[in-house]
Amino acid sequence: MAETRTALVTGANKGIGYEIAAGLGALGHRVGVGARDDARREEAVARLRAAGVDAVGVPLDVTDDASVAAAAELLADRFGRLDALVNNAGITGGMDQRPTTVDLDVVRTVVETNVLGVIRVTNAMLPLLRRSPSPRIVNVSSGVGSLTRQSGPDGELTTGPVAVAYSPSKTFLNAVTVQYVRELAGTGILVNLACPGYVATDLNGFRGVRTPQQGAATPIRLATLPDGGPTGGFFEDAGTVPW
Ligand SMILES: NC(=O)c1ccc[n+]([C@@H]2O[C@H](COP(=O)([O-])OP(=O)(O)OC[C@H]3O[C@@H](n4cnc5c(N)ncnc54)[C@H](OP(=O)(O)O)[C@@H]3O)[C@@H](O)[C@H]2O)c1
Repeated sequence: MAETRTALVTGANKGIGYEIAAGLGALGHRVGVGARDDARREEAVARLRAAGVDAVGVPLDVTDDASVAAAAELLADRFGRLDALVNNAGITGGMDQRPTTVDLDVVRTVVETNVLGVIRVTNAMLPLLRRSPSPRIVNVSSGVGSLTRQSGPDGELTTGPVAVAYSPSKTFLNAVTVQYVRELAGTGILVNLACPGYVATDLNGFRGVRTPQQGAATPIRLATLPDGGPTGGFFEDAGTVPW
């Protein structure tokens, strides 16, 4: 019988991350519910377990070296390996983010979470991923990180308002991901980027037009790709997102 697959989802206590955890759980994964706040994490784990998911709470602040190292140790103990890592945790840094007036601390904080957090978590989890026969890494990006869309005639329509911290943080994440793809080529680790679409969550004051379940679909698909599946792609439900 095939072994149970295991996954870690960062920022899994709410929004799209919660639904990625729920969806992977429904597909039979043991799911590490990465979340920084104890109460929010425990509440999410309880809801997931009530829905039949084999959920394990993983204290995890992606901006904190010690927290990430402890999360890797906990997963080594509980799972022994990791089959899928979904780097979902992210922040906008709030609006207004006009480049001419932005507070540089906002840019730093957003990059620390959305970019350096992904590198920190990925590197800590790689030894566990390397123990999997079919490891997958999914970085949750956004169409607002697409330079093609940002600079196109419909930029305002497809990528929202000018935002010098959040949007470039996703472009940076895309570029970082391409470097992982290059280094990990030939290892069997498939690394892809997912855009969930415009989803109603706390992140945007619930102005998004899609449900968190809909937003979770592409990340779940990429976390469960068959061997020989794509790597180095930037995907949304409708296909690929231009760089
Ligand atoms: N919603 C959209 O329309 C949309 C569109 C494109 C891309 N995305 C991306 O989708 C991902 C999920 O966003 P969402 O819409 O589901 O937003 P959300 O509901 O605000 O959820 C964000 C999650 O990230 C967690 N998080 C933030 N900073 C963290 C840190 N330092 N360490 C650990 N966890 C942290 C939050 O935890 P707390 O509860 O503790 O804050 C929360 O669980 C993000 O990467 C976002 O950029 C969203």
